[in-house]
Amino acid sequence: MSQATPQASRKSVTLHRLREMHAQGEKITMLTSYDAMFARLADECGVDCLLVGDSLGMIVQGEASTVPVTLEQMVYHTRCVARGNRTAWVVGDLPFGSYQENKEQALHSSVALMQAGAHMVKLEGGGWTTETVHFLTERGIPVCAHLGLTPQSVHALGGYRIQGRDDAGAETLRRHAKELAQAGAAMMVLELMPSSVAAQVQADNPGLMTIGIGAGAATAGQVLVLHDMLHVTRGKLPRFVRNFMAEGGSIEDAIRRYVAAVKDGSFPDESIHGY
Ligand code: KIV
Repeated sequence: MSQATPQASRKSVTLHRLREMHAQGEKITMLTSYDAMFARLADECGVDCLLVGDSLGMIVQGEASTVPVTLEQMVYHTRCVARGNRTAWVVGDLPFGSYQENKEQALHSSVALMQAGAHMVKLEGGGWTTETVHFLTERGIPVCAHLGLTPQSVHALGGYRIQGRDDAGAETLRRHAKELAQAGAAMMVLELMPSSVAAQVQADNPGLMTIGIGAGAATAGQVLVLHDMLHVTRGKLPRFVRNFMAEGGSIEDAIRRYVAAVKDGSFPDESIHGY
C-alpha cells in the first residue's frame, strides 16, 4: 500500500494527480469542510479532497436534512473553504433544487460553485442525471456523481437506509454507475451500500475514482463528515464512522490519523457498511 505524500512538499492536488494516485493504487482521502480554518487544517494534514458537502445543512445550520440548503449558501461556504485551502482538490455539492430542473439550470449552478472556488461539482442520483453529467463535463466542469443513499432524496427513500441490498437494487446501481462513468463523471461517491456492490462498481469502471462512505474498503478512496470522525455530535453516529478524535489527542492528530488509516487500508473496517 502506498503512503501519503509528505504535506510539506505537496503541490496542488489536480484531477490529473488524483487519477495518477488511483492508477498507482494510492487511496484517495476526502473530508467534508465548511469553513476556512478547518479547510486550512485539513489541507495541512494532507487530506486530498475537501468536500463542501450540503451536509452543512445538518452540521452547521441544525436542519433535519440537506433538503433546505440553497445554492446561495453553498456558494458562500465554497468561497470560505477555497480561501482557507492551499493545495487540496475542492468538491462543491450542488444542493437540492439547483440541478433537477434541466441541464441548463445545472450548468448555471455549477458555474456559481466553480466561480466560488470549487474544482469539481457533485450531484446526486443516477439515470436521469446522466445527460446532465455529459452536458457539464463537455463544458469543462469536472463532475463527481453520488449513488447509493442519496440524502437529498431521503423522503423518497424512506429514511437513511442501506441501498442495493437485493439483486435488482444492486443491478440498478451498477447500471447507473456505468452510465455516469461513460457520460464523463471522473469521481463517484458511493454511500451506504454493501461492500460487494461498491467493489463491483469499482471493478466495472476501473478508471472511475469511487469514494466510499459506509460502502466497504474496495473503493478508490473514502470520505467522512468531519464532525462525525471528530465525534462532535449529539446524535447516534453511523456504525461505519470511526472516532479518530479518541485516538488522537487533538483535531490535527485525528485528521492525520484518518489520512494515514485510509492510505494504509486500516480504515474502513471491511465488514461494516450500514448504519
Ligand atoms: O454532503 C455531504 O457531506 C456528502 C457526504 C456524506 C458524501 O455528500
